Parts: sequence; C-alpha cells; structure tokens
Amino acid sequence: MKLVVLLLLFQLFGSSHCRCFCQVTGDLDDCACDVETLDGFNNDQLFPKLQTLLESDYFRFYKVNLNKPCPFWTANSHCGLKDCAVKPCSPNEVPEGIRSSSHNKYSAEANEHLDECEQSKHLGAVDVSLSDETREALLSWSKHDDEAERFCVVDDEQSPDSQYVDLLLNPERYTGYKGPEAWQIWNSIYEENCFKPYTIKRPLVPNSFQSSSGSEARTFYSWLEGQCVEKRAFYRLISGLHASINVHLSARYLLDDSWFQRKWGHNVSEFMQRFDSELTAGEGPKRLRNLYFLYLIELRALAKSLPFFQQKSFQLYTGRAEEDQKHKEMLLDILQLARSFPLHFDETSLFAGDEKEAAKLKEDVRLAFLNISRIMDCVGCFKCRLWGKLQTQGLGTALKILFSERQIEALPSRSSEQRPSFQLSRQEIVSLLNAFGRISTSIRELKNFRSLLAEER
Ligand SMILES: *[C@@H]1O[C@H](CO)[C@@H](O)[C@H](O)[C@H]1NC(C)=O
Ligand SMILES: *[C@@H]1O[C@H](CO)[C@@H](O)[C@H](O)[C@H]1NC(C)=O
Repeated sequence: MKLVVLLLLFQLFGSSHCRCFCQVTGDLDDCACDVETLDGFNNDQLFPKLQTLLESDYFRFYKVNLNKPCPFWTANSHCGLKDCAVKPCSPNEVPEGIRSSSHNKYSAEANEHLDECEQSKHLGAVDVSLSDETREALLSWSKHDDEAERFCVVDDEQSPDSQYVDLLLNPERYTGYKGPEAWQIWNSIYEENCFKPYTIKRPLVPNSFQSSSGSEARTFYSWLEGQCVEKRAFYRLISGLHASINVHLSARYLLDDSWFQRKWGHNVSEFMQRFDSELTAGEGPKRLRNLYFLYLIELRALAKSLPFFQQKSFQLYTGRAEEDQKHKEMLLDILQLARSFPLHFDETSLFAGDEKEAAKLKEDVRLAFLNISRIMDCVGCFKCRLWGKLQTQGLGTALKILFSERQIEALPSRSSEQRPSFQLSRQEIVSLLNAFGRISTSIRELKNFRSLLAEER
C-alpha cells in the first residue's frame, strides 16, 4: 500500500526536488516521530543554540593524533591536496586551563609516574581558587580508566604526536579527496564491520548500474530486516554518518578556485549524484532517512547524559570561572531542550533486551565500533581524517552513554570519595557535542537543498 502511494507521488512530482525528498517525509522507522517535526525542532530551536556553544573555547579545541599509522593496509599518508591540510594550534593559542586539565587519564604509564601530589600541584598551578571539591573531581577524573567501556580508540593525549586543533579554523568541507582511496575506507567499514556476511552484497553507489535488477538490493534489505534492532541500527548509523559527511561536502563544495578567489558553496548536482532516488537506484532517500535516524540516536544520548553534566563538580574547565559557568549553563540548556523533544524511540525496543543478551550485544557493537575508529587512521586526507575521527568518536560516545543509562542515573548527586561509575573525558565531551553539531548542520543544510531544488523546477 505504502509503495503504491510512493509510486503515485513519484509520478506526480517527477522533479529533481521530489527525487531527493519525496520519500524523506513522514514517520521514521524504529521511532515514534516524523521528519517534519524534527526539522522544525532542529532548525528553529536546537541548531542556533548549539552553534553558539560550539564556538566557545572549551569546544573548539580538539586534541587529536593525526599521525597514527593505518593498522590495516599501507595508506598514502599525504594526498597532496592543499585543502586536506590541517593546521594545528601553537601551544599558546590554547587556553592554559584546557592544556592542564586534559592532564591525562589515558596513559597508564603517565599516571604511574605522576603521583597524586604532583598531579594536584599541576592542577593547582592553573587556578589556585579551585574548590577542594572540584580539585577532587578533576583528580578522580584523571585517574579513571574505563578501557572496557569505551567504544572508540581514544588517542593518547600525552603522545607527542597529539596536537590541539582549532575546529573553527579547520572546517569540514570539500577537499577533493575521493576516488578509490576514499572508497576503500567506506567499503571496509561497511563490508567488514557491519555484522554483514560477505555473501550479502550491499546495494551500491551511484555509477554502478549493474545492480539495476534490484535483486541484490532486495536480498540486502531482507537480510537487514532479519537482524535484531540494534544491529540494524548500527548499519543505519554508519549509513547516516556517511550521508551526513556527503551533505557537508555538497554544501561546502569548492565552486570557484581561481588565483584571486576561492569560494565554497552549495553544489546541487553533487547533492543529486548522491541522494537522487533515480541516480542512486533508490538508495539516496534511504540514506537521508538514516541521517535522521542518526540525529535521533545522538539526540537521545544527549538527553540521557543530562545527569552527568548536571553534577555540581562538573565544569567546562578552561580556567576562566565566569565564562566556564556561563557555558555550562548553555550546555545544560541544550540538553534540557534535547530532553524536551517529545518523540524519542520506543524505550522498550532499542538497547533494552534482557540483561545477558544486552551485554553480549553491547560488546559486539563496541568491538565493531572500536575497529571503525581505527580505520579512521587510514584516511589519507588529514582534514577528512580529523573530522572522521571526531565524528566516529562522538558517535561512539553517544553509544557509550546509551548503553550506560543505569550507571548515569545512579551517579551520586554530590561528589564523594566514591569513584563514579560513569565518566566522560574532555575529548569525549568535545567530540560528542561537535559530532552532533555536524549532524544538526546537515539537517539544516537539507532545508537549503530542498529550496535550491525547488527553485530549479
Ligand atoms: C577490522 O577492520 C579491518 C579493516 O576493515 C578488517 O580487516 C578486520 O577484519 C576488522 N576486525 C574486526 C575484529 O572486526
Ligand atoms: C558540481 O559538482 C559536479 C560533480 O557532481 C561537478 O562536475 C561540477 O563542476 C560542480 N559544479 C561547480 C560549479 O563546481
């Protein structure tokens, strides 16, 4: 029945606008919500607030190691494209508070060498006005190790190869990185890390019209339907991430590259290549729906994380108390807003199976995700590697939150001696919010593409 309606719609509006968006409307699968409500919520309420927050010092400086070797194959480490370059910060550009408070909890070795006394001296040197309570919290933060809980490989922040990058100065946009190398990355993510047997072929990509019989696609989707909701979700998250990145690249395409100007902007034909239902044999609209799905998952993780950020001892610490307080309030405001969005997932269907099964599933998803984050070290273009790492880490953090609901709710409301059962590092927090910022921007960009395509009719 649904199919008939879609086909009818399709004939009625055979326009390019329709070929991208007509199937991206109405109810979203696995969720009690619809596209239109979500667009309004994001574009009018959440997006502007989040943009402001992401410009703050706490969120704009991301510490990352872009020089790890690819663990799976020999990668070209330089793609030679100037737009792939990432300019790291010089040390004095990063606020002192950030440099010291990221004082590391990840390298066991470093923690052994620094005894507590040294650590507190180090922290104390930043801001002697820190309350004892905060100092305690920062210390337990430094020592906490949750390797077994992590969904991503976290870069060793003490490594001399890790550097701060100013995300505002290194925006995600079209770099010219594509072709076989980029394809290999996505292909190994989908083929080797999405729980998919090799015998099931993934419906491909524009330009490969061989699969036009549609039988491969049918086999694939019936396989996907047979998966448990979480594994299906996993595939859709990866597809959503892929879609989001492609929306950005089409929205910030290098349109003009002459000796006197370089101009980035919307490239409608690039967008169509990736999302038009005809040009992609029906895959494009599915990808866009997966983007909405990803948005909802991350939104839900933000909503669930509220008790963690509400803890009194939690600070967005840069060393400037007044600003830090203001930004914490902005963050809480955004999380409250996320909580207020009425139409989340059916609580009983996702991440909520019986306990033993859930633990197994959590482990499966965690390992697959961990591996995907390592694949990011194989991305040849540094700019893409930076944003790829940030976005997979952000999504990994979102999953960690969703799978830790009980621990988060059990967090003590006052900080005490007892070691908290749930922690997020600064790097995880920065990636969580920035990754969501990218998805939120993608949803906002879809609005632009909708109107650009409507004009073209
Ligand atoms: C991790 O990814 C690589 C590269 O795609 C793949 O060869 C390997 O089998 C994966 N390992 C696991 C444990 O999934
Ligand atoms: C837009 O993208 C297409 C590829 O999809 C490219 O051929 C075209 O030159 C681009 N347009 C502009 C104005 O850069």
